[in-house]
Amino acid sequence: MAKNILCFSISLFFLIGISSPLKAEVSKCEECHIKVSPKQVEDFKRGEMAKSLDCTDCHGTDHQSEADVGKAQLPAIATCQGCHEEQAEQYLSGKHALGLVALEAMPYTHMQPEAFIEGQKGCGGCHTLGITDQKARGSDKRKYYPYGMDCQNCHTRHAFSKKEAAEPEACKTCHMGFDHAQWEMYSGAKHGVAYMINRDVDPENKHRAPTCQTCHMPNGNHRVFSAWGFLAVRLPEDDAEWMGYRAAILKALGVLDPEGSPTPRLEVVKAGKVARLSKEEFAAERKRYVDTCRQCHSPNFVAHNMKNADKMIKEADKLFAEAIEIVAGLYRDGIIPRKKDAPAYPDLLTFYDVNTKIEQTLYEMFMDHRMKTFQGAFHLNYDYSTWYGYAKMKKDLVEIRETAEKMRQDKKLKP
Ligand code: HEC
Ligand code: HEC
Ligand code: HEC
Ligand code: HEC
Ligand code: HEC
Ligand code: HEC
Ligand code: HEC
Ligand code: HEC
Repeated sequence: MAKNILCFSISLFFLIGISSPLKAEVSKCEECHIKVSPKQVEDFKRGEMAKSLDCTDCHGTDHQSEADVGKAQLPAIATCQGCHEEQAEQYLSGKHALGLVALEAMPYTHMQPEAFIEGQKGCGGCHTLGITDQKARGSDKRKYYPYGMDCQNCHTRHAFSKKEAAEPEACKTCHMGFDHAQWEMYSGAKHGVAYMINRDVDPENKHRAPTCQTCHMPNGNHRVFSAWGFLAVRLPEDDAEWMGYRAAILKALGVLDPEGSPTPRLEVVKAGKVARLSKEEFAAERKRYVDTCRQCHSPNFVAHNMKNADKMIKEADKLFAEAIEIVAGLYRDGIIPRKKDAPAYPDLLTFYDVNTKIEQTLYEMFMDHRMKTFQGAFHLNYDYSTWYGYAKMKKDLVEIRETAEKMRQDKKLKP
């Protein structure tokens, strides 16, 4: 009997010892933080990591009291990378980790309100992605995006749960709304509806329909990337007619100058991996999607769907190129004055920071309606593709034609 108790105590000792070395008592940090931010501590204690980590593993030990809060470290990707090398490296090789690069490359970012960017109440709320080094941030952290680290975007702090990150809602906070309504599209389309109905009525079989993660993070791969990208401009292009439309778009993006020669912005496109720049690169990204679809659908069915989604981009580009050229004509003829140091061409990357109504319409046609036309096609939401996308592009084009005509007449009357 005594021997059994001894055995039991020894195994208990090892069990506790192995699963939570030195973490038996409540840490100093927790003792105080249970008063400062009680639910936060509870969240952490419920998570998997509380079994073997404590607050200091991510926040360091420099801050010990209310008087030295500024010394608390805020984790960056490298903090998690130390223990989760695979996920961190996959993540860093994907598109998310370039979110800040894309934001800072935009010509008008520095003109936005500070609260909007550094204060993370606008663009900066979603784009503070890819800061790897705690120190780089820590050195000036009150100014340079004080909060916002990548891994918690799907694994919210301090639960850091795998289950939570695997649900499609984990993507919703950013992939929704005006220019990237993937959440609305998916959740209203067959895949999302089938997934969510099954999650409620037959949870064990919910994965008969795909989630965002099924298609974009197959096998839990944290390297998230698409073939077309946000702007849907790839190079080279075999279809000559389509390439004609694309050239107008690339000029309006400032990647080509009005004569069609590459500008320094092409380097930005490369650095931010904004577009696939070889056929091989495009094909490799596309293949990953097709392979996933084929787990549930036949090859012909998948090919048919991909081909027609691609064609929707071409249809959208046809309307958009005409609109760009009308506005470019107004620049060429001096009806819209060119901006200092800028070519006589519309610049789509200025988004809404434009001076004329016609350019506001062009911006909406680009960011809102063209996006919805093709994003809806890939996400099987025919309502978005039609009524919020293609139909609106037609309306934009009519408006742009009429407004341009009127601007020309006004100029004749009041030169
Ligand atoms: C004696 C109380 C006390 C102790 C001990 C303490 N903290 Fe804090 N800590 C605070 C208070 C109070 C704040 C909030 C300050 C504010 O927001 O005004 C804070 C803030 C923080 C922050 C946020 C910092 C920021 O930049 O916003 C982190 C992270 C943190 N503590 C981690 C820890 C860790 C890790 C430990 C243990 C090594 C610890 N704390 C120990 C009181 C304490
Ligand atoms: C696995 C890493 C990890 C551990 C362990 C951890 N945190 Fe955090 N903590 C984070 C991350 C990530 C952030 C968000 C940083 C950012 O936004 O840049 C954060 C932010 C904070 C903040 C500031 C933001 C807020 O919501 O108030 C406080 C305070 C904080 N942690 C306290 C704690 C305390 C107390 C513990 C221990 C019970 C703890 N943390 C354990 C990763 C961790
Ligand atoms: C000191 C090592 C260490 C650090 C640093 C660390 N983790 Fe962990 N993490 C672990 C261990 C141990 C587990 C539990 C066993 C496992 O799942 O690998 C875990 C589990 C996880 C899980 C799975 C939880 C679940 O529900 O199954 C996630 C997600 C996670 N960590 C995210 C993070 C993030 C994000 C960071 C950085 C903010 C981080 N970890 C930092 C060691 C660490
Ligand atoms: C609600 C979150 C959110 C806000 C706010 C936001 N973005 Fe984005 N942004 C995203 C998402 C998500 C994507 C990727 C969408 C896609 O690929 O369909 C993206 C993509 C981009 C891209 C394209 C990156 C590329 O390489 O293709 C740029 C540039 C960009 N955003 C700039 C901005 C600017 C400038 C602002 C503020 C005026 C802003 N964003 C506001 C979430 C946001
Ligand atoms: C875009 C959303 C997203 C982001 C951002 C994200 N993760 Fe994950 N993570 C997931 C999903 C989804 C899973 C579950 C994958 C699966 O089902 O196998 C997961 C799983 C994990 C796991 C558990 C792996 C396992 O098999 O047990 C760890 C650890 C982890 N992530 C760490 C991280 C770290 C570290 C970062 C930041 C570099 C990060 N994640 C960023 C979505 C994300
Ligand atoms: C059935 C698979 C599938 C599901 C589910 C899915 N997507 Fe997609 N998604 C795709 C395909 C296919 C593309 C286009 C890939 C390409 O460029 O070849 C795409 C493209 C994207 C893009 C790039 C811009 C665009 O829309 O074309 C983003 C961002 C995106 N998806 C996010 C999401 C989010 C967020 C969810 C969930 C709310 C989701 N997707 C659900 C298959 C899926
Ligand atoms: C914190 C906001 C945020 C969350 C949460 C988020 N994303 Fe993103 N996502 C972005 C931003 C911003 C970009 C554009 C990055 C860039 O500028 O390079 C992006 C890009 C993408 C792209 C690549 C589009 C391209 O250009 O190739 C896909 C696909 C994508 N996200 C899918 C997802 C999925 C799936 C989830 C959930 C599992 C998710 N995202 C969660 C903000 C987010
Ligand atoms: C995990 C399995 C799974 C994956 C992966 C998957 N699908 Fe589906 N898909 C389904 C189910 C289930 C349905 C609903 C069956 C039905 O149409 O009644 C469906 C329906 C569809 C439909 C019919 C939509 C409608 O409105 O009627 C299309 C088109 C489709 N999928 C295309 C794709 C494409 C393209 C991919 C890859 C990008 C893909 N699916 C990936 C399971 C999947």
